[in-house]
Amino acid sequence: MRLKDKVAIVTGGASGFGAGIVKKFLEEGARVVIADINAEAAQTAAKAAGDMAMAHVVDVSKDESVAMLAKATLEAFGKIDILVNNAGVTHLPSALDEVSEADFDRVFSVNIKSVYLTAKHIVPHMKENGKGAILNVASTGGVSPRPRLTWYNASKGWMITATKGMAVELAPQGIRVNAINPVAGETPLLKSFMGEDTPEVRAKFLSTIPIGRFSTPEDMGNAACFLCSDEASMVTGVAMEVDGGRCI
Ligand SMILES: NC(=O)c1ccc[n+]([C@@H]2O[C@H](COP(=O)([O-])OP(=O)(O)OC[C@H]3O[C@@H](n4cnc5c(N)ncnc54)[C@H](O)[C@@H]3O)[C@@H](O)[C@H]2O)c1
Repeated sequence: MRLKDKVAIVTGGASGFGAGIVKKFLEEGARVVIADINAEAAQTAAKAAGDMAMAHVVDVSKDESVAMLAKATLEAFGKIDILVNNAGVTHLPSALDEVSEADFDRVFSVNIKSVYLTAKHIVPHMKENGKGAILNVASTGGVSPRPRLTWYNASKGWMITATKGMAVELAPQGIRVNAINPVAGETPLLKSFMGEDTPEVRAKFLSTIPIGRFSTPEDMGNAACFLCSDEASMVTGVAMEVDGGRCI
């Protein structure tokens, strides 16, 4: 029960890594808001979890929507101890000069602007409480980018810099801010990174991961649990690879 009595918001919590983080947080005793744009998936996940979870439909790229998320969480659970900025999208693999402006704007608003918006609406509450833990789900692509996912990778590089800036600014207020950098993982998003899901493309991705397997939602749940728990009370500003050695 490493997160007993904590209240956590997990954006994009209805699928993939977010669902893995939600599952681990619930197992460790937290109350969790599954904050996702996919209402049906969020509600199904919350129903399965019972009283300890609540679904909330949010578009993390919209100011008013994020304001409502903070308000609804405080009304339901009274406080916010942990925020996981996990919701994210990508453009399809493509030459950097061929990605449409609409795709660029979507990646920018969901992966980048959301970190600003959740900070705007949730950090004031954490400051008031004198404590909090924020976790940004970035990517190995933000550290060691590969071709054809350039604007997605750049959004994750931004997230890592934001993590460090937020950490140093918020440390005096007792708020820790960390990131995890997952390597390619078994989630619905994987197909979008690969372009096409064939044995050849899978083998190409796997060949870059020394441990020899894709990452899983469980891997992210375990790393997120540590970084958001009081066990990590001296850890802030870290962007931790959860990547089977891919960034070495
Ligand atoms: N899967 C990978 O290989 C991989 C690797 C590195 C980093 N990541 C990052 O991990 C995070 C989770 O990815 P995943 O693979 O679990 O993806 P996923 O597509 O399985 O889940 C993403 C969730 O975010 C939700 N979402 C999308 N846009 C939203 C919005 N505007 N507002 C609220 N919710 C929204 C979706 O409905 C979905 O439930 C993302 O930030 C992604 O960039 C994924």
